[in-house]
Amino acid sequence: MKTILILNGPNLNLLGKRQPHIYGHETLEDVERLCAAACDEGFEVRLEQSNHEGRIIDWIHEARETTCGVVINPGAFTHTSVAIMDALNTYEPPVIEVHISQVHKREAFRHHSYVSLRADGVIAGFGLDGYAAGVRRICRLASA
Ligand code: DQA
Repeated sequence: MKTILILNGPNLNLLGKRQPHIYGHETLEDVERLCAAACDEGFEVRLEQSNHEGRIIDWIHEARETTCGVVINPGAFTHTSVAIMDALNTYEPPVIEVHISQVHKREAFRHHSYVSLRADGVIAGFGLDGYAAGVRRICRLASA
């Protein structure tokens, strides 16, 4: 089995409860279910969420040896974290960046992403479907 890591940053543990007019009513469990359903045969997903930047960096380091791609929604760390970008630059397989909301329609500080300097693809404003699209893209790239 090839494993795809689905990484979620701060406040995404509250998905479904947090600003549902922006992020919807579905939860991280729904994200996991959608991602598992989007996998091709021979692939599986593992979903993690942390409010702590260092924990996310540790997961990226561990993923270097154990996974075939990362789908990451870094939450607000998208716009602040050189350290997560540096960690992703140590990771060779494909990286897809996902934002539930259409960040370019929101405040100016959300328009810049450090993670986009590394990501192989970026999806914003597709709701939870963006995660599934990220998984499908990694299955495609990892099978090529
Ligand atoms: C987000 C967008 C970020 O700007 C925000 O800080 C989040 C969620 C999204 O999924 O739309 O926490 O990454």
